[in-house]
Amino acid sequence: MEAGCCYVPLMRIVVTAGPTREAIDPVRFISNRSSGRMGYAVAEEAVARGHGVVLIAGPVALADPPGAQVIRVTTSEDMLAAVGNALESCDALVMAAAVADWRPVTVSAEKIKKSRIPPVIRLEPAPDILKTLRPRKGGRIFVGFAAETGNPLPEAVRKLRDKGLDMIVANDVSQADAGFDVETNRCTLVTGEDEAVALPLMSKMDVAGRILDWIEKRRAG
Ligand code: C5P
Repeated sequence: MEAGCCYVPLMRIVVTAGPTREAIDPVRFISNRSSGRMGYAVAEEAVARGHGVVLIAGPVALADPPGAQVIRVTTSEDMLAAVGNALESCDALVMAAAVADWRPVTVSAEKIKKSRIPPVIRLEPAPDILKTLRPRKGGRIFVGFAAETGNPLPEAVRKLRDKGLDMIVANDVSQADAGFDVETNRCTLVTGEDEAVALPLMSKMDVAGRILDWIEKRRAG
C-alpha cells in the first residue's frame, strides 16, 4: 500500500437487517415487507473489505454471510438488546433494519379464537433503537435508513437530526425497482441539510459499497 494514499482503518461494524415481528398472540404478529437484502449487502461488503462484522437480523430468508457473526432476533425489544450489547465494542452502526414502529400493547399467551378476535388491536410505539442508544454513541458512526413513499428527502433530514445520525440513506420505496424485496435500490446519501448525494439505480451491493466508502473516509478523518 502506498504511504498516505489509501489507508483504510479496519473497523468493527454492527449492521442490522430485516424486519422485526411484534406478536399479537403465539401465531399472529405485526411486521413489514423488509427482505433484509440491504443490510445483508452491507454486512457482506464490510466483511469483504476486512472489517469485523456483527450482523443482527430479524426474521429473513437469507443465508448467513460467511465471515460475519450473525445474531438472530425477532422483536424490536430483542433487537434493541442485541444492538445494545454489541455497541460497546463497535466503531460504526448501520441500522438497515426495518424495525416495527408499533407493537400490540398486550400479547395474548394463547391463540386468540377467530370468533374472539377484537376488531381493534391497541398499539404502542416500539422502542426506537437509534434514539435509545443515542446517549451511548460517543465517537461512533451511526448510519440510518429512511424508507418513504414520495420525496424522501425532507423526512430524511428530519430523521438525521432527530436520531442524531451521521448519515441517513433515503429511498423512495414506492418504485417497483427500488426498496423492499428487490435486488436494486435508488438511494440518496444524506449527511446534512444541503449535503445529499443522489445515487442512480444500482445493486444493493453497490449501494453498500458507497455507504462503506463514506464510513471509511469519515473514520480515516
Ligand atoms: O423512523 P423510521 O422508522 O423511519 O426510521 C428509520 C431508521 O430508524 C432506520 O435506520 C431504522 O433501522 C431505525 N429505527 C430504529 N428503531 C425503530 C424504528 C426505526 O432504530 N423503532
